[in-house]
Amino acid sequence: MYHWWQIGTLYQVYPRSFQDSNGDGIGDLDGIRQRLDYLVWLGIDAIWISPIYPSPMHDFGYDVADYCGIDPVFGSLESFDRLIDEAHTKKLKVILDFVPNHTSIAHHWFIASRRSRTDPKRDWYIWRDPAQGGGPPNNWISNFGGSAWTWDKSTGQYYYHAYLAEQPDLNWRNRDMRAAMHEALRFWLRRGVDGFRVDVMWHLIKDAAFRDNPPDPTWTVHDPEIDRVFQTYSTDQPEVHEVIAGMRQVVEEFENRVLIGEIYLPVEKLVAYYGKNLMGAHLPFNFQLLSTPWAAPHIGALVERYEAVLPAGAWPNWVLSNHDRPRIAARVGPEQARVAVMLLLTLRGTPTLYYGDELGIGHVEIAPDVIRDPWAKREPGLGIGRDPSRTPMQWDGSAFAGFSMHDPWLPLTFDYQARNVAAMSIDETSILFLVRSLLHYRRQHTSLSHGEWRLLSRNSSILAYQRHHGDNRIIVVLNYTADQQAWFVNTATKVRVAISTHGDRRGEPVLSTLRLRANEGLLLEPA
Ligand code: GLC
Ligand code: CA
Repeated sequence: MYHWWQIGTLYQVYPRSFQDSNGDGIGDLDGIRQRLDYLVWLGIDAIWISPIYPSPMHDFGYDVADYCGIDPVFGSLESFDRLIDEAHTKKLKVILDFVPNHTSIAHHWFIASRRSRTDPKRDWYIWRDPAQGGGPPNNWISNFGGSAWTWDKSTGQYYYHAYLAEQPDLNWRNRDMRAAMHEALRFWLRRGVDGFRVDVMWHLIKDAAFRDNPPDPTWTVHDPEIDRVFQTYSTDQPEVHEVIAGMRQVVEEFENRVLIGEIYLPVEKLVAYYGKNLMGAHLPFNFQLLSTPWAAPHIGALVERYEAVLPAGAWPNWVLSNHDRPRIAARVGPEQARVAVMLLLTLRGTPTLYYGDELGIGHVEIAPDVIRDPWAKREPGLGIGRDPSRTPMQWDGSAFAGFSMHDPWLPLTFDYQARNVAAMSIDETSILFLVRSLLHYRRQHTSLSHGEWRLLSRNSSILAYQRHHGDNRIIVVLNYTADQQAWFVNTATKVRVAISTHGDRRGEPVLSTLRLRANEGLLLEPA
């Protein structure tokens, strides 16, 4: 038997940017609720909502001031309950973002912790004396640039923050803090959430001795500052697995819930996060497609490697974009974005689709004076800004794209009057139509939702693979180039085109040589 989180498709909602219901230019929970029917129409099974907890928004909600509340900008616990109820009625699961690595400086735990060295909450955070001779305790760097240590004058120690100084790291070696966090998880599980995406899961425990990180000799001033050093001692420590197992146990107290981990590690290290006896994360996010060069040989090799290192019984998953990385269409261009969604939705394992990728939203130019992302502000000129991936969902061609009645907090795309749900949902050649066809096809064919994956061929231009489950067998052929290609069909059974990335050719019989147009992907089924 398969679980919903294995055969379903996840959809990430960045709540500030999905739907504004009250005209303040910022998306909210009532807005998400108003758009659930769209997600049902599209063929989504579960939504993951980025943080909605009370927050001073230094990092747009990833600085949590209270783990058991809702920020007024997003709504209230009542609007949250209503959202869960309606989602469940429509057979949609709801996954929350849980941010256990750090809190906001405004969290009452931190306020107590920084009050005095003897406060019971002092040890809930990471406080250290200056290094011998003064200065920060070690050379660790914040992911947003600068030292990861901030001096606290009144108590005469530094506190550690892997991100902003406004996001002090919690000390997961402290048992009381752990218990409090487990209670926060239960708070939402009891309210009916179907699981969690755990923020920076590989960061949770740091080296007990706080050793210096080794420098990366290849670093240049054009790289983000964090890359000056390898994160050898600040992340991915062996003790983290016990912490994750603890969270998993809490999740296991409830039926049918899922634990997902945000983990940026190479696949060989990533798979350890499934945990001993698979009692870690159900789905350690596989982000390899975000950085692998976009060419058939690389993608083919990646899929083979990932399939090969997965522990027995571990369930795979794939991600194309998220709120921290360039959108897929920005990275590979609008034509290859179609090939990319066909890949995402036909590989083995749970796909996570990022809102707006179904419209093929590409790069959005953010003028310097409207930059919102704190990282972009701290390290300007490197092109690392995350705002271009967080712009409002585009629902129709009206003044603010149906997202809001007001100027949105980030701009729309220049082409939003054509690139929106209303226009594209009636255009059979749109990427939106393609995504919907793939999602519905996936639901109807067990070969796609849980069949085996087998490479058929990969050359410099084309990747071809087969999925099969029992009698159900389909073939996917993807052209990664802007040239026409031919592929020799080597199957005993006759096949025909089920879906083309271009929205046509449906039912076309396939002869011994399959012709692919530029940037075309084809899903073939038995004729
Ligand atoms: C994760 C989030 C990112 C955030 C960071 C700090 O990487 O996805 O948006 O800035 O954690 O919480
Ligand atoms: Ca709003």
